[in-house]
Amino acid sequence: MKEISPFSPGRPVPVEYFVGRKDEINKLIKGIKQTSVGQNINAFITGERGIGKSSLALFVKYLLENDNSLLPKDIKFLTAYCFLGPAKTLPEVCKLMVEKLISSIRDESLWGKIKSSLNKYIDSIGLDLFGIGVKVGFKKDLEDLPSDFYSIVKYIWNMVRDKYKGIMLVLDDINGTTKIEGFSMFLKSFIDGIAVDYKERLPLLFLLVGIPERMDDLAREQPSTARIFDVIDLRLMSKEESREFVNRALESVKTGIAEEALNFIVQYSGGFPALLHEIGDAVYWTDRDNYISMDDAIDGIMVAAENVGRKYFHRRLYKEMQSKTHRRILYKMARSQKEILTRKDILAMLNDKERKVIDTFLNKSINRGILRKLERGEYEFPSKLFGLYVLLESIKEKNKPRGTA
Ligand SMILES: Nc1ncnc2c1ncn2[C@@H]1O[C@H](COP(=O)(O)OP(=O)(O)OP(=O)(O)O)[C@@H](O)[C@H]1O
Ligand SMILES: [Mg+2]
Repeated sequence: MKEISPFSPGRPVPVEYFVGRKDEINKLIKGIKQTSVGQNINAFITGERGIGKSSLALFVKYLLENDNSLLPKDIKFLTAYCFLGPAKTLPEVCKLMVEKLISSIRDESLWGKIKSSLNKYIDSIGLDLFGIGVKVGFKKDLEDLPSDFYSIVKYIWNMVRDKYKGIMLVLDDINGTTKIEGFSMFLKSFIDGIAVDYKERLPLLFLLVGIPERMDDLAREQPSTARIFDVIDLRLMSKEESREFVNRALESVKTGIAEEALNFIVQYSGGFPALLHEIGDAVYWTDRDNYISMDDAIDGIMVAAENVGRKYFHRRLYKEMQSKTHRRILYKMARSQKEILTRKDILAMLNDKERKVIDTFLNKSINRGILRKLERGEYEFPSKLFGLYVLLESIKEKNKPRGTA
C-alpha cells in the first residue's frame, strides 16, 4: 500500500529532490560570498507561475542554515523567509519581516534584550503553544515601523553578528504587496540606507520573489527600484534535469520506470516543474506494482491533465471558449508543439470549416487571454503550462470513446 508520494505538486520541492538550477545557484552563492564580506546584494528571483521560484529561494535558505558541499562550513546566515500574502499595508509588511527575523533567532538569552530595546513595537517574545516555533507579540501602533525598519534590522544584526556571516531576507508571494502605495519607495530607501551607512555595511542578502509583472509594478512607482535588483530569471528545466528529478523521486520510493515511460513523462511536462510534479504524482498513484510502465504513464498523464486543469486552466479553456471549432483549432496549435506560430502556420493545419473562423478565433482568444499576440502576426500560449494543458486535453479528447465528444 502506497503512503507518501515523493512528488509535491503545488508545494515548493523538498531539498532532497531539488534538481538543476546550477547557474542560478552559482549566482546566488557568489552573492552570498560577497554579502559575507560586508556587501549588500539584492536580487529578484522571477519567472512564470510554477516555474520554481520559491523552491530555489528555499533551497538557498537551506544552504545558509545547514552544512553542505556548496558553501564553506563557516558561512551561515540568519534567515527570514516572509510570505507576504496576507500583508495589506506597509507597517504589516514590516511587521512580518521583523517577526520572521526575530523568530529565527534561536538563542533565547537574546529575546529579553531585543524585547526591551524594541519595546516601542514589541510586547513579548516567547515559544509558541507547542514549544516549537517562536511567537512575537506586537503592539497595536506600528505606524512608524517602516521608517525605523533599517535601524531595527541593523540592531538585530548587531545582536547576532558573532554567530552569523550575514542576514538573508526573502520576500515571497509579493503579489498583493507591490501595489501597496509606498512599497517601492520603502524598498529603495531601505536599500539606500544600507549604502549610506558605509562605515559598517549591513551584510544583507535581500531576495524578492515574484512573477515579472511584480517588478513592473515596483518600477511604475519608483523607476530606480528596478535597477537595484539583479534579476534571476528562471526558465524551463532541461530534459536531463527533468529525467534526473523523476529518477531520483522514484528511486527514493523504490519504484522502477520503463525508459519509454520516462521519456513520455519528461516530454509532456515540457520542462515545467509544476507539471512534472503533477504528472509524476498522478503516475505514482496510478501504478500498482512499483514499476511505471508506458500504460501507467499514459493513465497518469490523463489524471494530471484533469488536476492541472481543475487547478489552473479549466475556466479559461472551457468557459471562455465555448465553440468546439475554436477549441479544435487550439488543440491543433498545441499538438504542433511549436512555441510560436504565425497565422500562416495555423492556417496550414486547419480544414476548410476551421479556416473560415480563423480571425474570429484569433480575436476572441487574444481578448480572453487564451493566446498572446507577438510582433508581426505571431501567436503563442500565454504560458507554457497552459499550452501543455491544452495539449493534454487534446490527447484526452482524441482517446475518448466515440460518441462522447
Ligand atoms: N528545482 C526543482 N526541482 C524539482 N522540483 C521543483 C524544482 N523547482 C520547483 N519544483 C516543483 O515545481 C512546482 C512549482 O514550484 P514552486 O512552488 O517553487 O514555483 P513558483 O515559481 O514559486 O510558483 P508560484 O509562482 O506559484 O509561487 C512545485 O511542485 C515544486 O515542487
Ligand atoms: Mg512560489
